[in-house]
Amino acid sequence: MRRVLFATMALCALAGCEGARQDMYDQPRYKTYAPSPLFEDGASVRPPVAGTEPRARGAFADSSGGRAGTDLVQRDAQAEEAQTNPYPVDLALLKRGQDRYMIYCMPCHSPAGDGDGLVVRRGFPAPPTYHQDRLRNAPDRHIYDVIKNGYGVMAPYGDRVEPADRWAIVAFIRALQLSQHADVASLPPDVRARLGARP
Ligand code: HEC
Repeated sequence: MRRVLFATMALCALAGCEGARQDMYDQPRYKTYAPSPLFEDGASVRPPVAGTEPRARGAFADSSGGRAGTDLVQRDAQAEEAQTNPYPVDLALLKRGQDRYMIYCMPCHSPAGDGDGLVVRRGFPAPPTYHQDRLRNAPDRHIYDVIKNGYGVMAPYGDRVEPADRWAIVAFIRALQLSQHADVASLPPDVRARLGARP
């Protein structure tokens, strides 16, 4: 008996809930920017109180309620502040950089970084080669900023390449540059010997 009573009550409660929900669909409210005689300026939209900060701004805008994801937001902020590559250049970073470079940069800049990518062969303006003194001597941050903001006719990639990955690409481009401009004396002896053996 008790069980039946409970079930009936629960059903009523649920039905009541549904009824209230229906009312909310249809509640009296102003449509966006509809006029209202209530206020002196005749608008229903009220200006935000002075000093109001939108929530979707600042360091925590990308996190969930300022809690979940804050470590990622902080990592991005640190990467964003850095003027030179803030990460140790190890194989993992270079591989990540290579991976991102091949997706986002190689189509124009070519696998070797000389600017002869497939998109260029089909008519897009040719980028400068990375293997020139100006870009070899350019600060890391310049390349980072080019990725983030674009440069001349090159579009920005900041929305697709996150801050940590921009530094990984910078490291990979440095490796590319070194691969075409290494001092012979800096090569390991066996490689040097092979160079010497060349006709
Ligand atoms: C759609 C083709 C295209 C893609 C993709 C592209 N670039 Fe470029 N990039 C260019 C062109 C064209 C220029 C020359 C722009 C100019 O001088 O107006 C350029 C210039 C540059 C420069 C030289 C800036 C200078 O100081 O002269 C760097 C560095 C660079 N890009 C890095 C990158 C990186 C890193 C990526 C990948 C995240 C990338 N680019 C993706 C076309 C591209």
